[in-house]
Amino acid sequence: MQKLKEEISLLLSSCLPLEPAVIEDLLEIPPDPNFGDLAFPCFTLAKTYKKAPALIADELAAGLTAQKGVYWGRVTAGGPYLNFFIAPEAYGREVLREVWKEGEKYGHCAIGKGRNVTIDYSSPNIAKPFGIGHIRSTVIGHALYLIFRALGYSSIGVNHLGDWGTQFGKLIVAYKRWGDEDQLEADPVDYLYRLYVKFHQCAEEDSSLEDEARLWFKKLEEENCEAVDYWNRFRRLSLENYALIYQLLGIEFEHYHGESHYNKMLDDVIELVLEKGIAEESEGALIVDLEPHGLPPVMLRKKDGATLYITRDLAAAIYRKNTFDFALSLYVVGAEQTLHFQQLFKVLELLGFKWAKDCVHVPFGLIRFKEGRMSTRAGKIVLLEEVLKRSIDMARDIIEEKNPDLADKERAALAVGLGAVRFGDLSNDRIKNIEFDWEKVLDFSGETAAYIQYAHARICSILRKAGPDCGNWNDQAASLLIKEEEIMLIKTLAILPEKIVAAAEVYRPSIIARYLVDVAREFNRFYHNCPVLSSTGELQRGRLLLIGATRQVIANGLALLGIEAPHEM
Ligand code: ARG
Repeated sequence: MQKLKEEISLLLSSCLPLEPAVIEDLLEIPPDPNFGDLAFPCFTLAKTYKKAPALIADELAAGLTAQKGVYWGRVTAGGPYLNFFIAPEAYGREVLREVWKEGEKYGHCAIGKGRNVTIDYSSPNIAKPFGIGHIRSTVIGHALYLIFRALGYSSIGVNHLGDWGTQFGKLIVAYKRWGDEDQLEADPVDYLYRLYVKFHQCAEEDSSLEDEARLWFKKLEEENCEAVDYWNRFRRLSLENYALIYQLLGIEFEHYHGESHYNKMLDDVIELVLEKGIAEESEGALIVDLEPHGLPPVMLRKKDGATLYITRDLAAAIYRKNTFDFALSLYVVGAEQTLHFQQLFKVLELLGFKWAKDCVHVPFGLIRFKEGRMSTRAGKIVLLEEVLKRSIDMARDIIEEKNPDLADKERAALAVGLGAVRFGDLSNDRIKNIEFDWEKVLDFSGETAAYIQYAHARICSILRKAGPDCGNWNDQAASLLIKEEEIMLIKTLAILPEKIVAAAEVYRPSIIARYLVDVAREFNRFYHNCPVLSSTGELQRGRLLLIGATRQVIANGLALLGIEAPHEM
């Protein structure tokens, strides 16, 4: 809690040669609550005082024993740390007051005010189905979008569609050979994808297919009418399909700037690279040597004049800087593209763009179902759409069984089903590979969205029973919460703001996901030990305020992960 920090910083600055702001930055939350609620490390003072940090901590603690603040009650020395313990009444009241006052905005702040952050996420490839592999980029990217927005940044979501490249040559060849109008209209994405797979199977035996595909891609680059018509059609049909998924997930992008968006800018990029003298022509190809920087060389233009994925990314990065003047430009893309982004950012740096340092690749691991890695080429693919539908169906069955009288089962099934898929991804450290296990992601007592959503719904039900009065703030009632379980829950609620900042700092929504599991767990522990509706008078009012605040924190946290918190389930 900010007020506790401010109070302690001010106090320490009166007896130390340090500014309050410096002290505030140094304050830490001890890993074990037995060591206090906020600790000041004395290491930095060792030089000034020419004494061991532990001795300094001892002396400081001795000088402060007779004192007590508004929000802290006691201070002790623990090795090199000065440990402060909260004063539960005032602290609890202050934390709850803040949650009640801020409501939906609790945990949000303005540190990013006036600054843009572009978030390149989802970015599926046209004419290939929206595979489950893209779900990671979609849910992690969207969570980061929401998290940065909560910190006051203007989040700009960019869908860098894979809508250009040699695969279009392949698709045109396949469609011209085997294509069927009716099948295309009936289920375009699935059909295009099957054509794509067939192309690869046939090309293994007949390599002339690849040559033909290259030719058609060349025609496309030269804006041949027939090629452009096919391309437009494939693109439009794919986009219509993606739109349904984004709608289901409640995701909107500020921009759909696919790779093709940058075609017109590529000549300028090549010119700039030549002008800066960082590239060499080698047998007609244009190459940037990155060996001095410990990276493999980058090809920006092929012998036949065709540009590459990275050429378009170079143009996209410059375009984004010029258009959005970003403070930060994130690329939420799988870890298998790490080298690509290292090369991209290095080339930007060599071009003299100081802002290259503001470009960040946010990588993530693979997602597996038991069948193994999904690949569009092998023809075995798990479709995100199917995964979402299956999850919703399973959630519907569970809800039907647990709560057959629920009024709006469909709404709850959507929230729980979509939440399970999102949380099943976001609760993992993004860099790890994840194994998607249906049993686990929908387990109501596991570390899942359902577990957290259920705590939320349970609180809503208690509040409904308590009647409308429990929505009124009451200072006195809020000061009565001094039982251990109450204090633990309050302390947990107090750190949502820090968790949001921490999640943004390392681009890890999992920090918020893990935190929400803690909140739900602390709530359950509290609820098990402290009766709410069967308690009476002011204490009941206080506990209702506490669970009301808990509900708010859960709802706010889930919202940052793009997950709904139903009132009933
Ligand atoms: N379409 C690419 C893929 O599916 C991801 C694009 C990521 N963004 C970027 N600016 N390169 O692999």
